[in-house]
Amino acid sequence: MTISSPITPSQVSFFLGLVPVLIAWLYAEYLEYKKSSLPTKVSASRHSDVNLVEVGMGEGTVREDDRVVLLEGGGLQPASPKARSSSAFSPIFRFLTMDESFLIDNRLTLRAISEFGVLLAYFYICDRTDVFGSSTKSFNRDLFWFLYLLLIIVSAITSFKIHHDKSPFSGKSILYLNRHQTEEWRGWMQVLFLMYHYFAATEIYNAIRIFIAAYVWMTGFGNFSYYYIRKDFSLARFAQMMWRLNFLVLFCCIVLNNSYMLYYICPMHTLFTLMVYGSLGILNKYNEIGSVMAVKLSACFLVVILIWEVPGVFELIWRPFTFLVAYTDPAKPTLPVLHEWHFRSGLDRYIWIVGMIYAYYHPTVGFLWFEYIYKLDKITYNKYHPYTSWIPITVYICLRNISQNVRSYSLTLFASSVPDAQPKLLLSLIPDYPLLNFMLTTAIYITLIICMEQASLPCETETLETD
Ligand SMILES: *[C@@H]1O[C@H](CO)[C@@H](O)[C@H](O)[C@H]1NC(C)=O
Ligand SMILES: *[C@@H]1O[C@H](CO)[C@@H](O)[C@H](O)[C@H]1NC(C)=O
Repeated sequence: MTISSPITPSQVSFFLGLVPVLIAWLYAEYLEYKKSSLPTKVSASRHSDVNLVEVGMGEGTVREDDRVVLLEGGGLQPASPKARSSSAFSPIFRFLTMDESFLIDNRLTLRAISEFGVLLAYFYICDRTDVFGSSTKSFNRDLFWFLYLLLIIVSAITSFKIHHDKSPFSGKSILYLNRHQTEEWRGWMQVLFLMYHYFAATEIYNAIRIFIAAYVWMTGFGNFSYYYIRKDFSLARFAQMMWRLNFLVLFCCIVLNNSYMLYYICPMHTLFTLMVYGSLGILNKYNEIGSVMAVKLSACFLVVILIWEVPGVFELIWRPFTFLVAYTDPAKPTLPVLHEWHFRSGLDRYIWIVGMIYAYYHPTVGFLWFEYIYKLDKITYNKYHPYTSWIPITVYICLRNISQNVRSYSLTLFASSVPDAQPKLLLSLIPDYPLLNFMLTTAIYITLIICMEQASLPCETETLETD
């Protein structure tokens, strides 16, 4: 195995950190296994002997005390002497000493960290070593659309079933694009982004641009709706959102020694999410007033014009953040370091505001149409129809409820041996069989996504209720 680029200190620390966690997790699984097999064996062999079973459970009782310590964070005096003594040790110390009850209590956390670490190690092996080969990309229009449409048909069939399963969707959200629908929309586009990169489908470049714009539009739409309705500007929720948007990319940058900007979609959404948060958060107690909102929306436009349209302002504002947003493409080393960020963030600089405007005024438009046009009698309605039919159609398109099955994070399965290089090659697990290779790498990819979805589930509870 040869490693294609020099190993960095952060990579070393990552792998050094991963090993003890892996060991601790495996040990915790072993302890859990031992614990769960013990009492059942006892009770199975001696049905009548209640005492013996209770002895077997004694171990569990002590653990309860420890859990109290853990939950209270040592803040409250725990009841039993055993628990008090263990509260003196910090979690780190208990981890390092492989404290058995601590390991058992935190088994699931250890498992999540281990799984995540192994995934990152897999990324490293694919991208930075020659363990697996690489192959060039090839595009075949017929195959490309065949696969995409096949996927749509398959998920349409599956989602039809799911739709029957969970009916309790009230008509309340009828005028809004609800969270599930935007998530689905995101899913469709992400599949298309991935296929675009996988097959190097350069002929749909402009279409991909539109889809990315649609994605940024949804950042404005979704986040505006959320903050406008929930009014939750708390630091906790904000930090959680920033973490959810960035943690995967952060670790990929560390492990693969890439720039943050290589995953430009992530800083871009982070920036526009911040802008939406800022525009609603500042003076948020006046958000209910229509004119204040109009001023805020205009201010967003002005800020964007100032930063992106006035020459020199972009560089001036972002220079202090060069450490974060600089990027030098090894294929084009002569470009200024801020070029990539300027280009990427500039492409979609307005559309998030349009998303906000849509979120703010669109329910009103749909409602007015329903009240004043739809309810008219047939003859009068027909007079207005040619001028107003776009309204329900637009609303329909927004509300069109396809399934939420396909969701994914856009992260690469694409091999690139140099840090920061744009991925030009494909991971090749089955050399010379491009289609089988596509199937296998996709299957692995989807499995990884499901793992990560589960890992990030606790943060996903913020469904948008629109009432
Ligand atoms: C889909 O639309 C139908 C009617 O247009 C509505 O009754 C249903 O609640 C919607 N489903 C979702 C998931 O929004
Ligand atoms: C806000 O935007 C980000 C980036 O697109 C997205 O991940 C997040 O889900 C959005 N939040 C809401 C509540 O829609």
